[in-house]
Amino acid sequence: MGPPGSGKGTQASYIADILDVNSVSTGDLFRDNLACGTELGILAKGYMERGEYVPDNVTVNMIMEWINDSKNNSGFVLDGFPRTIMQAEELDGRLDHKGVDKVVFFDVGFDKLVNRLTGRLICRGCQKPYHELFAPPAMKNICDSCGDNLYQREDDKIEVVENRLNVYKESTEPVLKYYDDSCKLETVDASRSIELVRQDLNSLVGGMVS
Ligand code: AP5
Repeated sequence: MGPPGSGKGTQASYIADILDVNSVSTGDLFRDNLACGTELGILAKGYMERGEYVPDNVTVNMIMEWINDSKNNSGFVLDGFPRTIMQAEELDGRLDHKGVDKVVFFDVGFDKLVNRLTGRLICRGCQKPYHELFAPPAMKNICDSCGDNLYQREDDKIEVVENRLNVYKESTEPVLKYYDDSCKLETVDASRSIELVRQDLNSLVGGMVS
């Protein structure tokens, strides 16, 4: 968990690799649906463009379908879900009483996030995030991983970014307390470099490998 631009997408696949499980981003799932022109994608489009959250029932059903896929039986990493108290309660309720094992909060002051978001580039193929200054691709506008083109997300424009940060503050910050109360919350200082954040995650999550 963390505000927009805190580095969740940059680090999620790294955490998943340590744990040898799959990871998923709810934002990526919505964008995949939008690219394929599905009913779900068309529904999500307006909310995403305004920087608002897609309704809880739609989001929960989408993520549960992904979780219930047999490929994810041995565990998973969720990036950007849950973001509301209702989503957190639904997730706990549907995961066999125990709920999630651990929640990592990417803690960054809002002042750093605007630069990260407005300078971000995303791969059109695999959705890997880059940054024009902090994480540039080896070849301009080409993804290092899959070779597809990079683009700027519509919701990374400054006017939408401000709304996304407000929505996060109002709806998602209370979820941090929800997980802190159940002693599952771990915080990383995500204002530092990608490499230093990665080192912290390695210590935090490495201990979970059985
Ligand atoms: P989503 O795509 O998840 O957007 P977000 O939460 O706003 O998060 P971001 O993807 O913007 O940021 P990130 O933390 O992943 O940062 P990143 O690693 O890319 O969601 C989009 C929309 O979908 C939502 O607005 C909503 O409409 C809908 N949605 C999604 N989930 C939902 C849910 N659960 N419920 C309802 N609606 C939902 O990094 C950002 C940039 O910074 C990159 O350029 C990166 O290279 C750079 N960077 C990363 N780490 C560092 C670092 N340590 N130092 C310097 N630069 C860094």
